[in-house]
Amino acid sequence: VFFVSVISRDLFLYLSNNKTLNRAAQNWGSNIASGKIVGGIDFPSSIKFIKELNEQGFSVTVDHLGEFVTSEEIARERTKECIQTIETIVAQRLDSHVSLKLTSLGLDISKELVFENMRKIMDIAEKYKIMVTIDMEDETRCEETLSIFKGLKADYTYISTVIQAYLYRAEQDIRNLNSYEPFLRLVKGAYKESPTVAFPKKADVDENYKKLIKSRLLNGHYTGVATHDDAIIEYTKRLVEEYKIPKHSFEFQMLYGMRTQTQKELVNQGYKMRVYVPYGIDWYGYFMRRLAERPANLAFVLKGMTKK
Ligand code: FDA
Repeated sequence: VFFVSVISRDLFLYLSNNKTLNRAAQNWGSNIASGKIVGGIDFPSSIKFIKELNEQGFSVTVDHLGEFVTSEEIARERTKECIQTIETIVAQRLDSHVSLKLTSLGLDISKELVFENMRKIMDIAEKYKIMVTIDMEDETRCEETLSIFKGLKADYTYISTVIQAYLYRAEQDIRNLNSYEPFLRLVKGAYKESPTVAFPKKADVDENYKKLIKSRLLNGHYTGVATHDDAIIEYTKRLVEEYKIPKHSFEFQMLYGMRTQTQKELVNQGYKMRVYVPYGIDWYGYFMRRLAERPANLAFVLKGMTKK
């Protein structure tokens, strides 16, 4: 079983980078994923799902799908869309943050372009006090992403980013960020990385993840624990009880459509729960990474979910 799961993980991560399939998926399949793991093909069609989530007690963060943009024009277009999304969140009084990927704003084109685009977004986000979280992409972009985050954090409050527990550098990165007192989302990490930069064994990733959660919760900086893993959720709950960590100093986060029953239970137990709702036609890479994590997600999208 382990062997099969390693092969399928590698296969799906390999497929997630296939540009031809990505383009094809934009044309044919958004309805496969819509309303199940993706909010909709655009932000307006996701609003009803977000409102439903808010009514059930969930906070949200929305992500316009799309990454690895190589055209300056598209990166600027993405920036405008992001600003419109923030304005709609405010106008519709949604309880929602915004998540984005720097490669969608031109990270692979130039650092200057990303800064320019991010500043336009942050000027609006700051005005309306809407948190913007910079998702973390693959390891080759980690250093630059953190450096851009630090540059922006000097001028803006409502900006946060993500630390991936599978990277050896994660612990040191958190230490380096401490003086910025950032809101950080902690995740295990979703990309295919070399053993030279990331723990190859899941058990080691899990141990490092727990270590990072503990250090963050004890230092009091607001933390999003973003996982579907019961063992990690239970670990966090025990930690919170043992050290009397206030429930308002952290939140759990999960992806839209994943473990919905567990999400509800956490809310009922008084924990803050944020649901990550992606939208857009560029759903292919996102979906392939979800399959790499759990091939059963394919059956879930095609039928119904098995494990709640
Ligand atoms: P993991 O995949 O290790 O699974 C552990 C166990 O949890 C499984 O054995 C199963 O029992 C259970 N489980 C997991 N998924 C399930 C499901 N769908 N249904 C039922 N049971 C399930 N990554 C990244 O690199 N950069 C980023 O910016 C982000 N951002 C992000 C935001 C949010 C809100 C979330 C939840 C996740 C991310 N990620 C991410 C993805 C993250 O790095 C990671 O790949 C996935 O969350 C999968 O790891 P888990 O910790 O969820 O469990």
